[in-house]
Amino acid sequence: MGYNVVVVGATGNVGREMLNILAERQFPVDKIAALASRRSLGTEVSFGDKTLTTEDLDTFDFTGWDMALFAIGSDATKKYAPVAAKAGCVVIDNSSLYRYDPDVPLIVPEVNPQAVHGYAKKNIIANPNCSTAQMVVALKPLHDRATIRRVVVSTYQSVSGAGKEGMDELWDQTKAVYNPTAEVPPKKFQKQIAFNVIPHIDVFMEDGSTKEEWKMVAETKKIVDPAIKLTATCVRVPVFVGHSEAINIEFEEFLDEDEARDILRESPGIMVIDKREDGGYATPVECVGDFATFISRIRQDSTIENGLNLWCVSDNLRKGAALNAVQIAELLGREVLKKG
Ligand SMILES: NC(=O)c1ccc[n+]([C@@H]2O[C@H](COP(=O)([O-])OP(=O)(O)OC[C@H]3O[C@@H](n4cnc5c(N)ncnc54)[C@H](OP(=O)(O)O)[C@@H]3O)[C@@H](O)[C@H]2O)c1
Repeated sequence: MGYNVVVVGATGNVGREMLNILAERQFPVDKIAALASRRSLGTEVSFGDKTLTTEDLDTFDFTGWDMALFAIGSDATKKYAPVAAKAGCVVIDNSSLYRYDPDVPLIVPEVNPQAVHGYAKKNIIANPNCSTAQMVVALKPLHDRATIRRVVVSTYQSVSGAGKEGMDELWDQTKAVYNPTAEVPPKKFQKQIAFNVIPHIDVFMEDGSTKEEWKMVAETKKIVDPAIKLTATCVRVPVFVGHSEAINIEFEEFLDEDEARDILRESPGIMVIDKREDGGYATPVECVGDFATFISRIRQDSTIENGLNLWCVSDNLRKGAALNAVQIAELLGREVLKKG
């Protein structure tokens, strides 16, 4: 016996990946529905070797459905997630709407699977920001060994993190560079993204940081440990898929780089690629379509006490969103619903 599963936002970047991953991982599905807005009513999307026709979220009845994987923006989530939850369907949400709600667990299954039992307060589970998800997979096993005091992270985030429109803007601007008559002014991003980098993701906060940077701080505290201090600089780069992060970590105790490498090699969800030679590290293009979070360039930082540097890359549409959501669905099935 399997689950009745709804994918909400099935025509989007994350929604399509969710359908792919549910099929790839042979999630036990009895019935599946693909929903989007009325604009795309009837659009066909793939689910393994099947084709699904999208239905209208606005008129969908969630009664009798076990779980709904949401990948629509926060505004639409605010309207529809409570409807699904009230109908008894557990919502696994990709937007930022519920992440900081104390009554909603925020889960990365490799890091805090025990939090799943908190789902029942609202019948909602939140999925973290893409940059946080891959980073905490790397931080947690190191924190368990040597207790992290402070993290300094710089991100290099792909345009797919800004949805379909972000990918289109990079594509169109790149073509326009070679065809000066076809000017493509910035719309989704604040400045030209083709052949450029932009140190600005989401809105500015009062202290000068951006909301994306704030999210990495707040979510790391909620998922791993409130005692960890973290400062982030989040940058959009002209890469289609795959977020990269340069992470500097200060520990309470000394942690040797070889031991850190061994710990990470043994940890769930991680692939260590770390040879000190040309090409002996991971880059975003190699990570597209993969489940793992790739760790490279592990090395001591001798400028601080107990310091370590590393490079972390993952497919943001997978570990940063769709894969993590499906892993939460698997966890919910295994630990709570127990139907599969
Ligand atoms: N991309 C990432 O790396 C990433 C990572 C973590 C979290 N997220 C979050 O995941 C969500 C989706 O992101 P995305 O990248 O997949 O965006 P996207 O490619 O722009 O897709 C948006 C999806 O939402 C649907 N939608 C929008 N408004 C709707 C409404 N009022 N009613 C019903 N459906 C509606 C769209 O349907 P139509 O096609 O019908 O418009 C489409 O299926 C966002 O909340 C985003 O913040 C994304």
